Parts: sequence; C-alpha cells; structure tokens
Amino acid sequence: MQYGHFDNEKREYVIDRIDVPVSWTNYIGTGDMMGVFNHTAGGYLICGSSEYHRVTRFRPNGVPMDGPGHYIYLRDNESGDFWSVSWQPVGKPKEHFSCRHGLGYVKYRSDYGGISAEQTLFVAMDEPVEIWDLRLRNDSGRTRNLSVFPYAEFSFHQVDMDNRNFQMSLYAAGSRFENGVIEYELHYEEDSFQFFASDSAPEGFDCLRDSFIGPYRTERNPLAVETGEMSGSFEKGGNHCAALKRSLTLGPGEEARLLFFLGEGNAAAGMRAKDTYSPVRADEEFRRLAAFWDEKLRCLQVQTPNEGMNTELNLWNLYQSEINVMFSRFTSFIEVGGRVGLGYRDTAQDAMTIPHSNPVKCRERLVQLLRALTREGYGLHLFEPRWFEPEGNKQSFKSPTVVPTPPRSQIVHGIRDACADDALWLVSAVVQYIRETGEDGFVDEMLGYADEGEGSVYEHLKRILDFSARQVGQNGICKGLRADWNDCLNLGGGESAMVSFLHLWALENFRALAEHLGRGEDAARYGALAEQVRKRCREVLWDGKWFLRGITADNRKIGTKTDKEGKVHMESNTWAVISGAATQEQGVRAMDSVDEYLFTDYGLMLNAPCYTKPDDGIGFVTRVYPGLKENGAIFSHPNPWAWVAEAKLGRGSRAMKFYNALCPALQNDRIEIRQAEPYSYCQFVVGRDHSAFGRARHPFMTGSAGWSYFAATQYLLGIRPGFDGIVVDPCIPREWKEFTVVRRWRGSTYLIHVSNPDGVEKGVRSITADGVRVERLPILPAGSECRAEVVLGAEERGADR
Ligand code: GLC
Repeated sequence: MQYGHFDNEKREYVIDRIDVPVSWTNYIGTGDMMGVFNHTAGGYLICGSSEYHRVTRFRPNGVPMDGPGHYIYLRDNESGDFWSVSWQPVGKPKEHFSCRHGLGYVKYRSDYGGISAEQTLFVAMDEPVEIWDLRLRNDSGRTRNLSVFPYAEFSFHQVDMDNRNFQMSLYAAGSRFENGVIEYELHYEEDSFQFFASDSAPEGFDCLRDSFIGPYRTERNPLAVETGEMSGSFEKGGNHCAALKRSLTLGPGEEARLLFFLGEGNAAAGMRAKDTYSPVRADEEFRRLAAFWDEKLRCLQVQTPNEGMNTELNLWNLYQSEINVMFSRFTSFIEVGGRVGLGYRDTAQDAMTIPHSNPVKCRERLVQLLRALTREGYGLHLFEPRWFEPEGNKQSFKSPTVVPTPPRSQIVHGIRDACADDALWLVSAVVQYIRETGEDGFVDEMLGYADEGEGSVYEHLKRILDFSARQVGQNGICKGLRADWNDCLNLGGGESAMVSFLHLWALENFRALAEHLGRGEDAARYGALAEQVRKRCREVLWDGKWFLRGITADNRKIGTKTDKEGKVHMESNTWAVISGAATQEQGVRAMDSVDEYLFTDYGLMLNAPCYTKPDDGIGFVTRVYPGLKENGAIFSHPNPWAWVAEAKLGRGSRAMKFYNALCPALQNDRIEIRQAEPYSYCQFVVGRDHSAFGRARHPFMTGSAGWSYFAATQYLLGIRPGFDGIVVDPCIPREWKEFTVVRRWRGSTYLIHVSNPDGVEKGVRSITADGVRVERLPILPAGSECRAEVVLGAEERGADR
C-alpha cells in the first residue's frame, strides 16, 4: 500500500494520503535555525541547540503524536467555517491534500470549500528567520471573505524548563506587540527574544496561548479562529504564542500571497525581517536553498540499473546523511532534545560519510571530536563541543537555559564510562577526510585534549590506537568496556570481537596515512601492531562457521555454534571481513552464515536467535524484547557493513540483495508493513521474532544514513578517493551491464562510465582516463574534467583498502 510517491524531478516526496500510519517528518534549515516538521505541519523549531534553545514547543509522545506545530488556519467569514492548510490540527476532510517534503523545506497543499491553499516552511539562508509562505487561490467561482490565522506556540527554550517544574519558567517568559510585530522574551536570559511578523499589517494578534485557544479547547478549535476575533492578549508571564490575523477578500479565480516570519531577535529585528523578506526576496531565498542542496548533490550523481539506489544516492540518502551531521543528532519526534551535544561514535561515523559534500562541517566535527579525546586515548561518550572551544562560552550568570560549562573534573568521565569503540571511528574518519580533501597538513594541527595539554591531530590518533592496544582482556582481544558500538552489549572487562576488528581497521587506515606522509617509522610500528591484532583475532575469534561476538568477563564465549540464543551476530562477522582479519575462506563462510541466520526481506537482523533470558555478563541486550532494537531487530546501521563485507569478498549479487532489502525507496508500496517514511532509513526495522515484523521506527537520526551512502558509493559502486587518486573497484550484480558516476573530487569533475561486458561481479580489466590507461583516476588541476572508461572483466586487479 502506498501513501505517496517520489517526485525525483522536483526532488520531493509527495504524501497524498492524510492517514499515514505514523508522522512522516522532514527537516528545514541549514544553519543555526533548524526545525523538524511532519506531513501535517506538526513539529518544532530550534536555534543552535535542541536542548537549550528551542524556539517553538513540542509535546513529545503526545496524542496526537505530532503537535503542536506551525499552523495556518483559514476561516470563511460568511459561514464561520474554518480549517487548516496542513489538514491538522482542525482535521476537516479535504478535497485534496498533499504534503511535499523537499530538501530543507516542507510544503502543504489543500483544497477546501473552493479555496486552494499552499503553505511552505523554510529558513532564510543567512539569518535565523523561518519564512511561512502562504498562497491562496479562490476556485469557488464566487467572491470570498477570508481570515488567515498563522499560529505557533513559543517554548521556554530549555527542554526541561519547557516540560516540567514550571514554577519558575511560567513567570519568566513575556510577550508584547509593537508595530505589527509580536515579541517574545525569556526574561532571565540575556538578550533572548523571538519575533513573529507578517509582511503587511495584521488586523489582530494574540500573544497568550490560552487566550487564542480558549478554555477547554485545543488547537483543533481555537476560540479566536472559531469566533474570528483575536483578543490582543500579551503579558509578562504565562504561555505564549505567535498568532496573527489577516483578512482578505478574494474574487473568483483571484490569488493572494501572504508571508509570515518567525525569527530570533526582538521587535526591531522583526521589523527588519518584514522589510527585508518581500515576496521577491523570499523567492530568492528559496532559490538559494535549492542551490545550496544542488551544490551538495552534484558532488556525486549516479545512474545505475537500480532505481531505488538512484533515488537514494542522488537525493535522499545524501540528504539524510547531511541532516545527521548538521543536527547531530538529538532533534526529531523521537529524540526531542533531552540530551546535550555530540555522541562520540555517531558523530565520527556521520562525519566520515560526507567529506565530499560538506568538507567544512566534516572538519569542524572532526576537530570537536579530537578536542573531546582524553590524553588516555578514549573519547567522551557524550559532550558539548563548546566545553572545549578555546574561547569557551562565557556566561555572566547561572541560567537553566544557557549551555552550562561544568568544571573539567565533572566533564571528563573515567574509563568505566568509556565505550570501547568511540574513538576508533575517529581515526578512520580523519583518514577519510584527508583522502577526500588532500589536506595533509591537518595532521599537524595542534589541538587540546579534553582533560589537559595539547597535541597534534596525528598524536591524538596514535593515542587512540595505543589505548585500544592496552585495553585488552585475558584472551588478548579488546575489552568491551561500557559498550562497543552496540549500546546494549555491556562487557566491561570482557572482550569484544568487534572492537578488535575495528582496531585493526583503524590501524590499517592509520598505517596507510603514515606511509602517505612519509612517516615510515610509524607505518612500520602500527603495521606490526595490525599484524599482531590480525593474528590474535584469527586465533581466538573463529568459531568454525562464523566469528564470535565476544567473550564475557568470566570467559564465556558469545555467539558460538552451541549457543541457543545470540548464536550469530552481524557486527563481528561483517567487521571480521571489512578489517581484513578474516581470510577469504573464513569471510565467505562467515557471511554465508550471516545470510543464512540473519537475512530477512526487510534487511539483516542484528543477531539470531534473539535473547530471551537475562544475562548480565552479556549485557542489557538480553533484557530487550526479542525482535526490537538491539535484540534481533533489523538494526539498520550495521546493514551496510554487510554490503561492504560482501563487496570485499567479491559477491555483488549478494551485496545487492542485502542493499535492496533495506532500501527505503524500494518499500514505498509496503507502507502498511513499514509504516515509516520511505524516503528515510530508520534506526531499526522490527525483526522476525516480533509480531510487528517489518515495521520501521526512528527515521532520519541514524547512522544507517551515512553508512548506507558510504558503503553503496565506495564499495558497491566502488568509487573510493585515495591519497593520490580515485580507486575504482566496483562490486555489482553480474546482470548489471553498465553504470555511470559523476564525482567531484579536489576541484575536478570525473565522468566515470563503468561497463561490464563479461557479466562479472568484481574485477577491473582496464581503466582509461581521457584515453590514457591508468591504475587509478589521477589528481588533476582544479577545474578539470576527466572522462573515465572502466571495463570490468575476469582479469582481477588488486585495489587498496
Ligand atoms: C543508537 C546509538 C548508537 C549505537 C546504536 C546501537 O543508534 O545512537 O550510538 O551505536 O544505537 O546500540
């Protein structure tokens, strides 16, 4: 069953059924001001921080599940009938309804009672101003007298102040109306205002939510809209809203356009916004937004025989990856801003996937992560980047809504709270950034450590690798500590196979970097360490048909052939192959086991059979319902690891089978099962051992976005930037005859055509760049264009990792 369709030409997903099973969300904003909105304009806006600076309120986990929002009510002043453009909150049956989720904007359209209305929400490019663009057309064939009421509810900024213990916050917020502009203030914050304005003078306003809504009513039937009368309310203290009224008469066929602005700043800033954002300027801002995304998308465009893959890689998958890096990651309807800052492992992995389309943000994230590394070599699992910025955030007084700067002694957690994988991701992310940008000098940049002192980026990376080398358990495998990638695998002093594999991968990447930089001693030292780790992994972790997941602190193996539960795990088997720890033969066997035990039509489950008996030696995973989350769900994030593993083994058809099963765009006609957005990877899909098998949950904010993009572009299509050229090493289904990739790299454009005359899955017979035979695509003077012909064939050619 479908609820909408992809309009790839317009780069939009069009929802045309109102009764979507769950909220389908999208993101607006490209800078500090950002928002998340669903298909009925429910959602909220933040500026800078989703924990400390929420502009509008959201009632998380509410009924309905997605309110309030940024709504526009329309009222027919003759009949008194009223409705809302985005269907909710009034919820009147529409003759036509659609929501178009685009890149950085949402657009709602409805036809009701002969009035066609369209509401677009997006954020101006250079300023924290959200633009509400309303277009009306009278299709009723008679003159209509209408009133328009835009409405949003202000927040008390900090998520806790906004959701509990109101004895202070209820009296700390104030509002007023001046020169047609609503000004909202949080009085105890310094200079902390928001405004709401309209492009021409409103004829009424309400700043107090309860006056606008009226007693014992809801957003569904606000008193002001029902009566058509605003009360002109404002006050120091209370709950506040941005509600204006404008009236207009529309003759038959007549159109009107109204603009509203919700922004950061006081009434004067609001005045400026309404003077600045004329309809012409609003159009220009909208075009600039499109151009912003154009720039990103054009960094890599593909044309393959797989339409689902084309839709993902050319549009939605990159978009989702970028959104993760920008929002990183606590802003959604599920993660509602109650945690601060950056998650170490998630941010490192997200950053690794977009250095081509967002090198600046990627670098910024890498620097933030490097500064949150301890001298010991582990990362702070969750941290606020501002804590470690040299200038810090100077705060003149203590306020619940200002990001606190606790003393370092409180910020820097001990090793007991360290996750064994966190910082290892960063090593490969930094190497990936350098491969993409060629900024070798980054390694010499001096940065502080979270606890004390400073060192070069290069030294930071060495400390990470050395930490994991020291932190090994009784079998010589890396300790699992508080958790490894799997938050619910809590091995403490027990050992994690995945972490040792990850260590090996990081070591190999670092060795390659050291070699590239001519630092031979380090290349040799870390190369030797990699060999030791590889050897140890092979000796200790192979179980005959697959790799163990780990070993508990009391020396019980996890994930063996004799286990009844948690027999086969995805993380260890995929990483055994990706890291190069597995021999080809072991890799093939292990990934065959992954296919046999974990594959479903919706993707690969994390482990099988699920755990049903608590075992605290293994961790919290054994206490999670079977089939959900980390206990045997189709956890999306590790799925692309299996694609990479299969690509390394040379099995393109298998890799594509795995790719397609998870691919959201290919599930557009299975929404009765999937429920969630088909334009977004979700954190997990419910696994086989649960009654809701196939249901997807937690869109957008998931590492599966970046990893899917990274795995598909670099390992399935096989276009991998290296230090000194682009490696082309595809692994595809044998029936693919050809595909093309346009890749921008270091200022030049590579038009790559790959043909597969012999129907192979892997192996490159020849590469020519502008007619010249090459091993890899060369670095060119910026601004060049290079036409590359790649012929796949039986004659295999080694490619670097
Ligand atoms: C969530 C967390 C991520 C973790 C994963 C598996 O997605 O954000 O850090 O790796 O769950 O537990």
